Amino acid sequence: MSGDRDEAADATQPLESDRELVGIVAVADNGVIGKDGDMPWHIPADLQHFKEATMDHPVIMGRVTYEGILETLGEPLPGRTTVVLTSRDLETPEGAVAANGLEAALERGERAARERHDGADRIFVAGGATVYEEFLPALDRLIVTEVHDDPEGDTSFPEWDRTEWDVVSRDDRDGFAFLEYVRQD
Ligand SMILES: NC(=O)c1ccc[n+]([C@@H]2O[C@H](COP(=O)([O-])OP(=O)(O)OC[C@H]3O[C@@H](n4cnc5c(N)ncnc54)[C@H](OP(=O)(O)O)[C@@H]3O)[C@@H](O)[C@H]2O)c1
Repeated sequence: MSGDRDEAADATQPLESDRELVGIVAVADNGVIGKDGDMPWHIPADLQHFKEATMDHPVIMGRVTYEGILETLGEPLPGRTTVVLTSRDLETPEGAVAANGLEAALERGERAARERHDGADRIFVAGGATVYEEFLPALDRLIVTEVHDDPEGDTSFPEWDRTEWDVVSRDDRDGFAFLEYVRQD
């Protein structure tokens, strides 16, 4: 490998992972994903879908989303390792670890996959908007729940170019749909 190529490889190193990096989001037709630190809808089937997809995997999320979950559940997501992106000196309970940047978050995710989740082959990126935006260029797969509504909200999914992605599955339900996108080669 030439020196130039080594440098190119180094430039992409921080977001490289042996595992599939998978975004998971529920997004309304108007792009809204959040309101007042929570989701502006309650769809039990979507919560179940999220649980089934992410169970026994590392899940990276921003500090705001993490605190919303703590408030609702009283603990981090059970059965998963939550990697909390934050610039703060955050104390975390068992089941969560803090990371102060994307590279650190991926490294924590890799370690949790190896050591706690029996070599899990996916690391999830579960929002919110800031974190989706930062990770979007690095995602291999995107699991999307389309919520067929136009709710008011204060947080939206970032703009993304759907022509770069193939839909590999679609499951239409009453008022929402589960889709899975894979980034084209
Ligand atoms: N519909 C969905 O599927 C879905 C999924 C997730 C979240 N949400 C919603 O989205 C909303 C929250 O989204 P949000 O964008 O406001 O917040 P967020 O992404 O959850 O958290 C933002 C925080 O993450 C930390 N952070 C992000 N990138 C970082 C980096 N590179 N280095 C260090 N720290 C970093 C910072 O924390 P510090 O300030 O501590 O430094 C930042 O303030 C909520 O309403 C939530 O319910 C919806």
